[in-house]
Amino acid sequence: METTKSALASFVLAMVVYPEVLQKAQEEIDRVVGVDRLPQLEDRDQLPYIECIVKEALRWSASIPLGIPHCLTEDDEHEGHTIPKGSTVLSNIWAMTRDEEIDPDASTFRPERFLNMDAKTAERTDPRATVFGFGRRTCPGRYFADANIFMVVASMVATLNIAKARDSKGQVITPSVEFHSGMTRYPPEFTCNITPRSQRAEDMVSKMLTSLLD
Ligand code: HEM
Repeated sequence: METTKSALASFVLAMVVYPEVLQKAQEEIDRVVGVDRLPQLEDRDQLPYIECIVKEALRWSASIPLGIPHCLTEDDEHEGHTIPKGSTVLSNIWAMTRDEEIDPDASTFRPERFLNMDAKTAERTDPRATVFGFGRRTCPGRYFADANIFMVVASMVATLNIAKARDSKGQVITPSVEFHSGMTRYPPEFTCNITPRSQRAEDMVSKMLTSLLD
């Protein structure tokens, strides 16, 4: 839960700080899904920009920044360094998601970095190959988490406006982009203004909730 929450809170923070990303995402949803139904998992292949937002939210949040410690079951060698059996190894996932040699400007939320890549580059830079850990203990929830995050992102983009809030004096509140870091990494609480995108969107969500409760 903490990891999915971290990726989704990072997504909401990004929508507040980078409104042009939300606008582009809403244009894609309106074009592909329309305004008469909610997005489904089956729409995923036709929503490349939403896909890039999911990747960027996973990259930007790096929810378990140092992974979970692994213990070597045999001696190993890495770039000339001997690592004896029994050593505890931490994988610096945070650094891997911020490799400025692959892509500068790593601290900016920029889904476009994943657009128009050839298949080889897309595979090499896909954050899903790093943020879920490595080897035999790779996160078993990764496919569920990925699909879940896609559905939440697509549904929120389709039905909500996410914007900066105003304080009691009417001043716009711009949340600062920062992350708590420890075993998990996530943005601290921030203020924003989330409203239904339209009456039609509100009705669709109400209808869906009513059918779930029936
Ligand atoms: C954004 C969402 C998520 C991220 C970034 C994430 C990341 C990770 C990472 C980095 C590890 C350590 C892997 C390693 O040792 O190399 C891990 C382990 C694990 N994750 Fe996730 N996870 C996420 C969601 C989930 C979900 C939704 C579930 C369950 C439904 C889940 C269940 C687990 C379990 C059980 C382990 C321990 C596996 C083991 O040690 O054998 N995770 N996860």
